[in-house]
Amino acid sequence: MAKPRGVLIAGNWKMNHGPKETAQFFSELGRVPLAKNAGLRACILPPAVSLAAALDGARTASFPIEVGAQSAHWEKKGAFTGELSGPLLQEIGVHTVLVGHSERRQYFGETDETARKRSESLAEQGFTVVLCIGETRPEREQGRTEEVLIRQLHGAIVSGASARLVPFLDGRLVIAYEPVWAIGTGLTATPAQAEEAHQIIRKDLWDRFGMEAAGRTSILYGGSVTPENIDSLLSCPNVDGGLVGGASLKAESFLALLRSGARAI
Ligand code: PGA
Repeated sequence: MAKPRGVLIAGNWKMNHGPKETAQFFSELGRVPLAKNAGLRACILPPAVSLAAALDGARTASFPIEVGAQSAHWEKKGAFTGELSGPLLQEIGVHTVLVGHSERRQYFGETDETARKRSESLAEQGFTVVLCIGETRPEREQGRTEEVLIRQLHGAIVSGASARLVPFLDGRLVIAYEPVWAIGTGLTATPAQAEEAHQIIRKDLWDRFGMEAAGRTSILYGGSVTPENIDSLLSCPNVDGGLVGGASLKAESFLALLRSGARAI
């Protein structure tokens, strides 16, 4: 198999699509059959108010589609105004959470430390955690990409606590490499740049957690992925899928991404 870990295409809708648009998206998705492909995973991460509509849509979709949340608190309950917890998400059937997205880091005070608390707690609660890391443009220009990726990776999955996380690495930890300069900018990392970063990430996982855990961890590329550029990104051996913002908002475009994923497997 060209893709030992299969391919995961995750659509990060950010602050777009209310319940009505979500239902519309899924009804359009349902009209187009997608050939069954065991290695292909699809996931939609809508805004919190649209999770229920997405779950409804996913239930009637012609192929399996996961629904995830864009963030969740590490505590299971309590006085945390505006937050969602693991148990609240599980109650409605959500089992995937994005952690440490660069927009959360940039605008909402997310740090390596809070990303670590979230990923640890949510992994322990049984969630699939999609941990986002990536360098800014100045960091890349200063040749600091590797240093930043390792810092973020170690910050979010530290050695001590990793002892608790390691058993969860069996596919439920997903890393998304998202160079900040490529997010929403129309600039995409070249396949060579993506592969280089993914190799750095996989090697670090290998060094710290062993071959098996590293081999099972999907590493997604994110940052202006489109139906036009996804094939070349998926041709890289260490790119196991995409975390896609803008191009995941329309059913037609999301389907095109899934078809590319199926072809790459
Ligand atoms: P983009 O967003 O595809 O619109 O660049 C990706 C992301 O932020 O996850």
